[in-house]
Amino acid sequence: MATSFTVNGKQVSVEAEADTPLLWVLRDDLGMTGTKFGCGIAACGACSVHVDGAITRSCSVPVSEIAGKAVTTIEGLKGADGMLHKVQQAWIDAQVPQCGYCQSGQIMAAVALIEQVGTPSDAQIDEAMTNICRCGTYPRIRKAILAATGAAAQTGEA
Ligand code: FES
Ligand code: FES
Repeated sequence: MATSFTVNGKQVSVEAEADTPLLWVLRDDLGMTGTKFGCGIAACGACSVHVDGAITRSCSVPVSEIAGKAVTTIEGLKGADGMLHKVQQAWIDAQVPQCGYCQSGQIMAAVALIEQVGTPSDAQIDEAMTNICRCGTYPRIRKAILAATGAAAQTGEA
C-alpha cells in the first residue's frame, strides 16, 4: 500500500506493507541511513526520530500510522542555511561520540527535550534521555545538552 507523509519537510509516498516499521522505510526505501537499528523492540533509542515533533522509536511504529504526519530525522536537523543545529554543534564541541552508533538517536532525543522544556534540569535529562549508549558517553551527552542551552556557562561547567 502507498503511504504518504513528510520527511524533513519533503512530501514522500512509499509502497510498503502497512506493518513495515518506519525505521526500515526510512533506511531502505528512502535511503536515510542516519537513523540506526539497535534492538528493534523500542528499548535502546538508536532509531529515534521525531513524528509531529514528538520523540518516537521508529523501529516500533508501523508506517501506516505515519500517514499524513511530519517526520524529522537526523538528516533534517541542519538549518536551511546548511548550519548545524545547535545540539549537533554542542555534540561536536564536547566530542560526545565514541563509536557513534547510538548518537543520532541521542541527538534526536536531546533536541526533542530542549524543544519541549528549554533548559532541562538534571532530573528532566535523566527522565528524557533513556537511550542506551554501550560506550558510556552519558556524562558528555549531559554536558553537551547543557552547553546547547547555555546552562553550562551559567553553572560554570566547561
Ligand atoms: S532500534 Fe528502536 S529502540 Fe532500539
Ligand atoms: S557512542 Fe558507542 S554506543 Fe554510544
